[in-house]
Amino acid sequence: MSSCADSHVNFHVLTLFPEMVSQGLSASVTGRAFEKGIISLETINIRDYTLSKHKKVDDYPYGGGAGMLMQAQPVYDAFRATVDRINESGGDGEKAKVIYVTPQGRCFRQDMAKEFAGERDLIFLCGHYEGIDERVLEEVVTDYVSIGDYVLTGGELPAMVMIDAISRLVPKVLSNEASAEFETFHDNLLEYPQYSRPAVWHEREVPEVLRSGDHEKVRLWRRKQAMLRTLQRRPDMFREEDFMGSKPDRRLLAEVQEEFRAWRASMEEESPL
Ligand code: ADE
Repeated sequence: MSSCADSHVNFHVLTLFPEMVSQGLSASVTGRAFEKGIISLETINIRDYTLSKHKKVDDYPYGGGAGMLMQAQPVYDAFRATVDRINESGGDGEKAKVIYVTPQGRCFRQDMAKEFAGERDLIFLCGHYEGIDERVLEEVVTDYVSIGDYVLTGGELPAMVMIDAISRLVPKVLSNEASAEFETFHDNLLEYPQYSRPAVWHEREVPEVLRSGDHEKVRLWRRKQAMLRTLQRRPDMFREEDFMGSKPDRRLLAEVQEEFRAWRASMEEESPL
């Protein structure tokens, strides 16, 4: 992975619904980043590569069963054309990662997004119907990736989810570069709660410390809240050993664990099993 200042990711999406992908990513942060040339998006319509007279891209599965399968030939030819274009643009198409989005893949996570953000070219393959002929998957796919344990109608939304998550980690895509680093999932911690004006809303007051102007106190409060929130909402993510390295951290951990125990006891009181 590289994080050099001029790194740039080119996304190539093989799909039967190119407009869905290009329109979905054309707004907001990703749209602006495409306009500025910090990242690029090429959608490749698999149907353009079929050799069938009627532009067919699917057929019945051997052995029977419900639904249709995307055939190997148009997928492979669309892929080869993409590799050739990457090579012509100065990249190494043969080495580009080819991500098949499928519920059978490894679950997409922030660390995977970070790794992908260091690539020059990423090829996404979006399936439809009941899937794609296994033989072309065996020949081209390098990574099988899922966005969660549920089944969608096609791979376009998962590809867009991944492209969005990867893009915001590419330097200069977010106007405030620091913000990609210091938020949810940085340090394996969820983000601390945030407040804006007014100081009192619906009789709820913004914590005093945030209005104190004492930067060190604010930093400590936020770190503690991030730890507490992670223990409360995503205990599976919390790693005690991350806070064993220094004396102040160990003290902070002890305080947070104490507060967490008190919070848990109050929850149990509210709704006993
Ligand atoms: N295609 C259909 N469902 C999917 C999922 N959950 N993740 C990735 N690709 C998919």
